Amino acid sequence: MAASASCLSLVVLVALATVASAQLSPTFYDTSCPRALATIKSGVMAAVSSDTRMGASLLRLHFHDCFVQGCDASVLLSGMEQNALPNNGSLRGFEVIDSIKTQIEAICSQTVSCADILTVAARDSVVALGGPSWTVPLGRRDSLDANVPEANSDLPGPTSSRTDLEDAFRKKNLTTVDMVALSGAHTIGQAQCGTFKDRIYNETNIDTTFATSLRPNCPRSNGDNNLANLDTTTANTFDNVYYTNLMSQKGLLHSDQVLFNNDTTDNTVRNFASNPAAFSSAFTTAMIKMGNIAPKTGTQGQIRLSCSRVNS
Ligand code: HEM
Repeated sequence: MAASASCLSLVVLVALATVASAQLSPTFYDTSCPRALATIKSGVMAAVSSDTRMGASLLRLHFHDCFVQGCDASVLLSGMEQNALPNNGSLRGFEVIDSIKTQIEAICSQTVSCADILTVAARDSVVALGGPSWTVPLGRRDSLDANVPEANSDLPGPTSSRTDLEDAFRKKNLTTVDMVALSGAHTIGQAQCGTFKDRIYNETNIDTTFATSLRPNCPRSNGDNNLANLDTTTANTFDNVYYTNLMSQKGLLHSDQVLFNNDTTDNTVRNFASNPAAFSSAFTTAMIKMGNIAPKTGTQGQIRLSCSRVNS
């Protein structure tokens, strides 16, 4: 009797825990748009083969979508969150998503959301650059609005401390391990000089040769838009070398190096540096969790016709 009662409460608990993302399902478009996933994949592969960095840009776009009122494509609405401080002059890839959306509208009109296209494109970008794959739950709908103040307050910045980063991720129900794993996205892509200038001239927990090599292209005054690779060793491959770099004080951003700085996240960094499978597993788990932040489902929001504006 007692055993069956506790069994029942376990079932209730599990049901409650899954309810938040219960309406998302990997098979969501299997009947309504069976070619959706293949269309997204070929669009991403084409974009990455003509511009390798695009894989990084699409992954970042998804992160910046999900951290602001959930993964609802609010970041894609033109002239809104795009103008927020962490995004302005640095987000890329809008035209790739718009072009994939056009192709999908041609095969299944007003069926596949921009939020889902971006989530799948982020996964396909990681795969295109040699990283792990995972199954993406689907069925998100697109927002009717954007939230510029939340983009300014909730997206972490490059000068964040470790505790700032932990707080920002905890606010989205992501753990410290999720945060360290997701930061591994900085194994690809680039950052502008303005985001790491203070680090290469003023910080002490940086490899001297590394700092010196970055200075010509990031002078003390001006050059703020000049680019450097986030992963100085294997810039175009999605691997775990980002963590090895941190262990040799070659994190590009202040917010990268704080993850390995004689502190509580050092062991997680060591684990991901020495064990690629542990990193892949933690990264894919965290990407699914991030992709499930506050999805709009059912009758919420809309399926946009064009990702850059709400339907008229
Ligand atoms: C932990 C907190 C994070 C901070 C403070 C941060 C900050 C930044 C900054 C400042 C840049 C350079 C932007 C520029 O100069 O234009 C950047 C680039 C990038 N970030 Fe993050 N980021 C964080 C987490 C993440 C996460 C969770 C992801 C994805 C899962 C991600 C993916 C990327 C990628 C791929 C790039 C390169 C984009 C490109 O080359 O277009 N970042 N990040």
